Amino acid sequence: MSKEQVIIFDTTLRDGEQSPGASMNTKEKIQIATQLERLGVDVIEAGFAAASPGDFEAINEIAKVVKKSTVCSLARALENDIIQAAKAIEPAAKKRIHTFIATSPIHMEYKLKMSPETVIKKAVEAVKLAKSFVSDVEFSCEDAGRSDIGFLKEIIDAVIEVGATTINIPDTVGIRLPNEIGAMIKELYEHINNRAIISVHNHNDLGLAVANSLAAIQNGARQVECTINGLGERAGNAALEEIVMALRVRKDVFSNVYTNINTKEIYPTSRLIASITGIEPQPNKAIVGRNAFAHESGIHQDGVLKNKLTYEIFSPKEIGLNKDDTLILGKHSGRAAFKAKLEKLGFSLNEEELNSAFKRFKELADKKKDIYDDDIRALITSNMTSVENSFELVALQIMDSTGGVPSAAVTIKTPKGEKITDAGIGDGTIDAIFKTIDRITGHLGELKDYKVKSLSQGKDALANVTVQVQFNKDEPAVIGHGLSIDTMLASAKAYLGALNSYLSMQGLLKKRHKGV
Ligand code: KIV
Ligand code: ZN
Repeated sequence: MSKEQVIIFDTTLRDGEQSPGASMNTKEKIQIATQLERLGVDVIEAGFAAASPGDFEAINEIAKVVKKSTVCSLARALENDIIQAAKAIEPAAKKRIHTFIATSPIHMEYKLKMSPETVIKKAVEAVKLAKSFVSDVEFSCEDAGRSDIGFLKEIIDAVIEVGATTINIPDTVGIRLPNEIGAMIKELYEHINNRAIISVHNHNDLGLAVANSLAAIQNGARQVECTINGLGERAGNAALEEIVMALRVRKDVFSNVYTNINTKEIYPTSRLIASITGIEPQPNKAIVGRNAFAHESGIHQDGVLKNKLTYEIFSPKEIGLNKDDTLILGKHSGRAAFKAKLEKLGFSLNEEELNSAFKRFKELADKKKDIYDDDIRALITSNMTSVENSFELVALQIMDSTGGVPSAAVTIKTPKGEKITDAGIGDGTIDAIFKTIDRITGHLGELKDYKVKSLSQGKDALANVTVQVQFNKDEPAVIGHGLSIDTMLASAKAYLGALNSYLSMQGLLKKRHKGV
């Protein structure tokens, strides 16, 4: 029996970015897209072009660099959304427009305020327009999980008729159980009868997104939409790594299907995304959590020492987690070794970026004896918010806060090249630094989250600070990273990094794209 491919559609850069605090800038998104391609993802949903100039720019840049994977943009069933999506993906070697409209009674009545007939009409118009730009068009019935199956068949027939090639059935609110999704996909599979590929997109509100995706595959779905680390709106989306490893480990059950995923790139991809978003998978997260291969009880440890398979259903090496090569570089490591390491960790830098990263690596190696994978990741990701013509921290001086009023003096180079110094007080030293930065830059940020993680052990450990800051209450919070042996300096860099990211996403540091 010949095997059928399950298309892996990764939406980390679109639905994943909808996780609170996961907004990424263009540079970060390009790194992720490049790594997703290396992972073997078939379709990369790079964003929602009409959402903002920043989204448009990121999709457009990704479309220029990604060669093997299909690059896709989301678009509502609206003329302007589809035009923006088509423009954004234009440079891609393989491109797809993904358009959607809600089909459940509750969404049609309250959100769209449209009759079912109008919804079908809008869907058909959207697919027709998308088809005039690209041959690969996906149509999603938003909230399909709560839609009437008869109505789904009607709208699916109508969009297939005008050229939709993939039909996506999202359980948008994550309410369905595996047997229900299985039955629904079976009925739709028989109805569609190979006129289009059936896709599923499951949310994890009841913790069933992966189980539901697997049930769908067993019943004919041949595309799954998923994200790395299960990132996504609310409780997230189905986790790519869990679906792929379930198909692989249980090939006895899924003997009729395969994916193009290179599982050895799973762990590097997961770490890349955690270090860019600052969102760590829970320690006991399946496949990529810190404890996924940790054996605590004596009985288990004894068993694993005798034969790993007693308590491990697959080797960590299968996902690219090679415990033996985490201790890596030091002061005497050369540029070639550094470059090779970066590639292994999923970073692709141009010559200029590589030179600057190598310089920072050497500076770090002077301060720290052993440099670990996580140090390297932080070294690279902490620099991704330093976009061209951005604000730059020149100097920071903290006034002693013991018993006195915490205060900070900050010097910043503005995008126009001017150096401005100011000093301010705050409820604590961090507060004083951030308030002074706000005054100098003229952008008032609201700190939503502040995390400091020490990278590796010892007194020489680096402080890796990740902040989430909201600069406009109508926009999501953005992330900033700062790395330094000094926590205050790392905090100032992280805060300024978040501002630079925000400004670049808003298209405020560069000229906006024409037509967006
Ligand atoms: O959850 C959902 O329904 C979506 C669609 C836009 C596919 O993300
Ligand atoms: Zn979704």
